[in-house]
Amino acid sequence: MIIANISPRSMGKTTDTGMMAHALHEVGYPVRAWDADESEHLTQWSLAAGNFPFPVERNATATFSTDVTPLADGVDVVDVGHTENHPHIADSVLKIADLAIVHMEPSMADYQRVTQPRTSTSVADMVARSAYVRADRKAPPVWVLLNRVRTGVRSAGEIRNMLRDAGWNVFTVPIPALDDLKQATAFSVEHAARGPFGELITEMETKGLIKRG
Ligand SMILES: Nc1ncnc2c1ncn2[C@@H]1O[C@H](COP(=O)(O)OP(=O)(O)OP(=O)(O)O)[C@@H](O)[C@H]1O
Ligand SMILES: [Mg+2]
Repeated sequence: MIIANISPRSMGKTTDTGMMAHALHEVGYPVRAWDADESEHLTQWSLAAGNFPFPVERNATATFSTDVTPLADGVDVVDVGHTENHPHIADSVLKIADLAIVHMEPSMADYQRVTQPRTSTSVADMVARSAYVRADRKAPPVWVLLNRVRTGVRSAGEIRNMLRDAGWNVFTVPIPALDDLKQATAFSVEHAARGPFGELITEMETKGLIKRG
């Protein structure tokens, strides 16, 4: 299956994608990560880490959907180039994705850029229009993952409620701001499944969004 990780620029996609891929790998899923962003941040991260313990491939093109054959019994986790300047990549990945995850911080700024961007197509519209080009003519399920969540900051709950009121599915598990997280759990990329990304995988399994084997 393919998970498309999408958002406007700089909302935590690459960080969440890398962590999620590690967590999936650690709990036993066959994982392949895709760097579908021209900036190649995921590739650079993998190289800097001495190569992630699963393949990291590159395809930041409008032909992603025809170039890529999904793993039959594993998870392809795609870091999609941001939707503001590279909509052709997101359109192509969404054409074959089984799940789309929208990444954002629970702030008004991110809320507006996700729901009502003024100079680009919104992620909701991109997901909706994917239905017309997908084999089953149905858009993939979309879930919002809130990241950089700071404990004790009220706006996180408010933005979550605003998203839900506007019809978005929002994961219950929050990804804390990493400085908080380090103190709490000594979280690292090698032990991604021990932290909130492990909880996220459990939530995805519980909701039937991903399946083992
Ligand atoms: N949980 C987190 N806690 C603290 N900082 C974070 C967290 N997640 C991401 N960041 C920081 O936020 C910034 C944006 O993250 P990232 O590069 O993952 O976003 P992106 O959506 O991939 O950006 P781009 O659209 O440019 O590819 C980076 O500086 C990153 O280190
Ligand atoms: Mg990125």
